[in-house]
Amino acid sequence: MSAPRPLASLAGPKGWPVLGNFPQIDFSRFHLQLEAWAEQYGEIYRLSFGPRNLLVTADLGLAQELLKDRPERFGRQLNLERIFDELGFNGLFSAEDDNWRRQRRIVITALNSAHLHRSYDAMRDTTARLERRWRRAAQTGEVLDIPRELMRYTVDITTQLAFGIDFNTLETDGHIIQDDLDSIFPMLTRRLAAPFPWWRLFHLPSDRVLDRSVSSVQARIGEIIRDCRQRLATHPERRAEPGNFLEAMIVAQESEQLPFSDRDILANVFTLLLAGEDTTANTLAWAIKMFIDHPEAFQAVRAEVDARLGGDSIPPDYASANDFPLLEAFANETMRLKPVAPLNGFGVKADTVLGGIALPAGSGVFLLTRRLATREAHFHEAESFRPQRWLLNHTPVSPHHTRAFVPFGGGPRYCPGRNLALLEIKLVLAMACRNFEFSLAEPGLQVEEEFAFTMGPGNLLVKPALRQ
Ligand code: HEM
Repeated sequence: MSAPRPLASLAGPKGWPVLGNFPQIDFSRFHLQLEAWAEQYGEIYRLSFGPRNLLVTADLGLAQELLKDRPERFGRQLNLERIFDELGFNGLFSAEDDNWRRQRRIVITALNSAHLHRSYDAMRDTTARLERRWRRAAQTGEVLDIPRELMRYTVDITTQLAFGIDFNTLETDGHIIQDDLDSIFPMLTRRLAAPFPWWRLFHLPSDRVLDRSVSSVQARIGEIIRDCRQRLATHPERRAEPGNFLEAMIVAQESEQLPFSDRDILANVFTLLLAGEDTTANTLAWAIKMFIDHPEAFQAVRAEVDARLGGDSIPPDYASANDFPLLEAFANETMRLKPVAPLNGFGVKADTVLGGIALPAGSGVFLLTRRLATREAHFHEAESFRPQRWLLNHTPVSPHHTRAFVPFGGGPRYCPGRNLALLEIKLVLAMACRNFEFSLAEPGLQVEEEFAFTMGPGNLLVKPALRQ
């Protein structure tokens, strides 16, 4: 067996002295830059951020090892836990080892299908609010900033389902919690890639904006937690069967079965808000863009929705919401070409060898998940939008490596919000194609991929019209 190759010996873009490749990156286009370098250097290459060397890959074998061997061999990016902790949201997404294990169980239970089933009516009602909002916009000729619209929807759903509180930002004017959440993501991306942690020495104006946003969200979360404790005190019978994630965490804390601190509870409320907002909203926004770009596929999905909904405008119950095979295939294909997580970061916990490359403890890896799903080696006509490839009653043309399609990650840390997200996606898209036509408000304006921890469509301004 040949000796493993040192990470530093791999080909990769030449960086600056001391800072490495950091100054060459525009973080709002981070994924595009890493994908462009993969075009140049291949599916496995090297980067450096300051003194840290990083491996970048879109290799299927390496992807599976990275996703599977967690949390012991690989963790999230090494500095992620500390950066999240400094901001007070070291919850499930960033936690490692035993801290991660005890949080994972409670989050998985809180987002399982039984809970989604029980929460269906609230989700349907929130979808009806979105429909009313878009009907008004269609009647008045208003232009919609689609990702922003959908972020109102996803926050309203997450807060009802996970915390038992209805923010109703869909029907609120003025300042909403999304305004604060908005400034958090771009700063997270910058801090995670920073060659040195400047914010521990001094604060730039952007750090002060971040501090204000975090304090404002924390104050709101503090109120939610106080209300929930109050509710449990007034209705002690709820302790036997907590109705949502927040109640479950508080009950577990009080019963001392699981040693959660107040800080853990706050951090996980924050985590679910962040993890459930942009991801699902941006996926939905990309799907609306695909409705506009692929009118034939849109009409086919609409025919399926019409046939199943009869006289309803929104799927009336949980079973009917889960019965849209073509719509689901459309959503899958959207996530293959426009995944909101086009890359996934990993930290190496102890010296190891991956794909014949020696990775010292403390080095990092970026897995290019979009590239994985758009390589000709993995999918037939990989760059084309073909929802049919995902239909179960359709034999896909080879290659069709479903393991190369990981929009929700994989292995022990796969996304626990997947089923919730898919349900939101089906509800909104069914409602949207049943009731509306969509067109770009400014067709000359290029819709751009913008990376801010998640990847969303910039400039997606849409005019809704009532269906004729
Ligand atoms: C379309 C929507 C969504 C997408 C594409 C998405 C994608 C992802 C991805 C790629 C990961 C990393 C998985 C890994 O490392 O293997 C993740 C983790 C996570 N997601 Fe999602 N997500 C979505 C919606 C949600 C929702 C709605 C919630 C909850 C309300 C949620 C909560 C989480 C949490 C807590 C984690 C961390 C899991 C862990 O580290 O154990 N996500 N998600």
